[in-house]
Amino acid sequence: MSYETELTRLSLTDPRVIVMTAENRAAIRSLPAVLGDRFVDVGICEQTMIGMAAGLALRGRRPVVHALAAFLTMRAYEFIRTDLGIPGLPVKLVGYVPGFLSEGNGPTHQALEDVAIMRGIPNLEVFCPADEDDLAAALPALLASDRPTYIRYTNRPAIVPHTVSDPHRAELVAEGRDVAIFTHGLLVAEALRARELLAAQGISARVVSVRSLKPLDEEAILTHGSATDLWVILEDHFKAGGLFTMVAELLVERGVRANVLPIALAERWFRPALLPDVLRTEGFTGEAIAARIVARLDRPHGNRVAHNARDPRIAASQSLWARSQDRGLIPAGTQTLAKGPGQYVDGIAPKYLARGRGARVWDVDGNEFLDMTMGVGPISLGYAYPAVDEAIRAQLDDGITFSLMHPLEVDVAELLRRTIPGAEAVRFSKTGCDVTTAAVRLARAFTGRERVVCCGYHGWHDWYISVTDRNRGIPRGTQELVSTIAYNDLASVLEAVDDETACVILEPMVFEEPRSGFLAELRRICSDRGALLVFDEMWTGFRLALGGAQARFGVVADLACFSKAMANGMPISALTGRADVMALLARDVFFFTTFGGEALSLAAARATIGELAARSVPEVLAARGRRLREGISALGFPFVSVPGMDARTMLAFDPTAGSPLEMKSYVQQELIRRGVLWTGFHNLSYSHTDSDLDYLLGCYAEILPSLAEKLTRGSVASALRGKPVEPVFRKTTQFHTKPRRAS
Ligand SMILES: Cc1ncc(COP(=O)(O)O)c(C=O)c1O
Repeated sequence: MSYETELTRLSLTDPRVIVMTAENRAAIRSLPAVLGDRFVDVGICEQTMIGMAAGLALRGRRPVVHALAAFLTMRAYEFIRTDLGIPGLPVKLVGYVPGFLSEGNGPTHQALEDVAIMRGIPNLEVFCPADEDDLAAALPALLASDRPTYIRYTNRPAIVPHTVSDPHRAELVAEGRDVAIFTHGLLVAEALRARELLAAQGISARVVSVRSLKPLDEEAILTHGSATDLWVILEDHFKAGGLFTMVAELLVERGVRANVLPIALAERWFRPALLPDVLRTEGFTGEAIAARIVARLDRPHGNRVAHNARDPRIAASQSLWARSQDRGLIPAGTQTLAKGPGQYVDGIAPKYLARGRGARVWDVDGNEFLDMTMGVGPISLGYAYPAVDEAIRAQLDDGITFSLMHPLEVDVAELLRRTIPGAEAVRFSKTGCDVTTAAVRLARAFTGRERVVCCGYHGWHDWYISVTDRNRGIPRGTQELVSTIAYNDLASVLEAVDDETACVILEPMVFEEPRSGFLAELRRICSDRGALLVFDEMWTGFRLALGGAQARFGVVADLACFSKAMANGMPISALTGRADVMALLARDVFFFTTFGGEALSLAAARATIGELAARSVPEVLAARGRRLREGISALGFPFVSVPGMDARTMLAFDPTAGSPLEMKSYVQQELIRRGVLWTGFHNLSYSHTDSDLDYLLGCYAEILPSLAEKLTRGSVASALRGKPVEPVFRKTTQFHTKPRRAS
């Protein structure tokens, strides 16, 4: 749709509209005939026209004023500031030939308009459409606004279909993972051209048409920039005072660290010429933009999330590992078993990660990966997620750990009480194991019983780990008090829970759905037999639903334990539950620790839970996870299945088809070559985009047929390029079992 058509329509429907121009009629030729005396051409008196428009606006009219951009913003600046800006009059200024959008009018006419000046005007909105469709779609809202507006006119035909008509919102015009190009106006087209050229070099760029320079869509800028490695600010304006300055101010204000590349006009006047020449001589063609981005990224020779020709170089990882093993420096090498080398093909996979952003991580050798493990659960939103990192930085400015309690303890406890069913009372600690252990101690104190029945994994402390075969160092008495039940097996529950049982603690769901009535029946049995029911919600909490499994399945436990997803990577856990049980923590049951009220993690928890709620993250993860699951199933390979909750599925291998460890190792090594870090699980975060998951599906679509062929030939083991992975300690279906011995 053309600007002229839309302005005509709006003028005819709104008698307040007066169209004015200073001898600049190119885009409004038909309007004098349509509007009669509501059309005013003042000749060359731009300043006078602004003052006149202000007077008309004061009398209830809505003037739409056309003039050359440079004259509007510089020669009429004083009038705009005083007549329009200060009283906030709804005059709509349409600047022709904005930026260097010229077909060669001569130096004065082609002079740059000054966005820096315009954004300094109180109340003024600044709108910079990418093309005429964009402008026409925004026009109704721009005319309806009661504030003065500066519109950069463009008559360029549509370059992309537009989805956003709210002129205050930025528009993502193309997706990408590595680089975010923020631009507006005619340079959107050049950014798209640069994006194509970058893609040919394996660099994925997203393009954001910022559209509104004032007010700036800050959240969109932070979200898109933070999801990538490099923020490119591309503008047909000087660096000072334009979009680059605005983004820089935003980053400083929010305390966000970013790698920013400004591509703006050099601090000199450009030579008037036709537009293609100006673009070329000033370095604004897609080619020149792409070249500057490539130079800036200056990646080491690391692999990327792409079909790499070779396995990643992992020399730095291997050397760190050797240091960790030197004379037994770090026994086991890792502090978290699931991150240890046993879970990765030795010789192929990296061992140490240096940084992360969104759903991407970079190892110490500079290789980039799409991460499907996400810190083994905590990274629910994404690495370096701006809203959480800002909350942490803001708290860091005030302090970390204090000598008295901190108000966040109260704030976050109230937040959990509102969010989690049954959370009448709340206590914080640091690890998952802290709170499962506190729950068990509390249950023993409340019931006066000692036996514990569990199902799932609950951490490293004596009471739980005693049921596994890694139980050295645990007194026999402790071991004898704990037994296990089988998930979804009520017969095993009935056998295990008796009048000596203090509690049944279980993960309400891991990779198997609870059978109909299982959790409700378990609840009933516990109540009948006087045992407490404790949910270990490390994986289900904030993921299956914001209120966790209790909200999702409608069964409320006596106590529930949370940690992983609640603070996007900061160390914090929460024990929640019945007020009468939790009241014992006031004195008789001792559960205190130095860092329990540490404020950075509490600030992170508040910000994380806020984001999880505001963005309906559990629902988003479920939808993306379902698509992934369906995509894998549609590939039709009978030797794999995809069990689990939608937000966290796994690729399970059928043991009758071959060795699951060899199959998993093969898939892992092939994924690593394609830039995906994977241990069999799809631990989705809010930062995993549909295109990330499509990429993973595309990888599976290549790897699984080749695995099928190797299974047929019996050659999976010989196709491995490194040492296969070891079994997971924390099994995914049948947990460590230690049924109660008949006494
Ligand atoms: C279900 C469950 N419970 C408890 C824990 C122990 O948590 P942490 O390792 O933070 O002590 C974990 C850790 O993986 C877990 O998955």
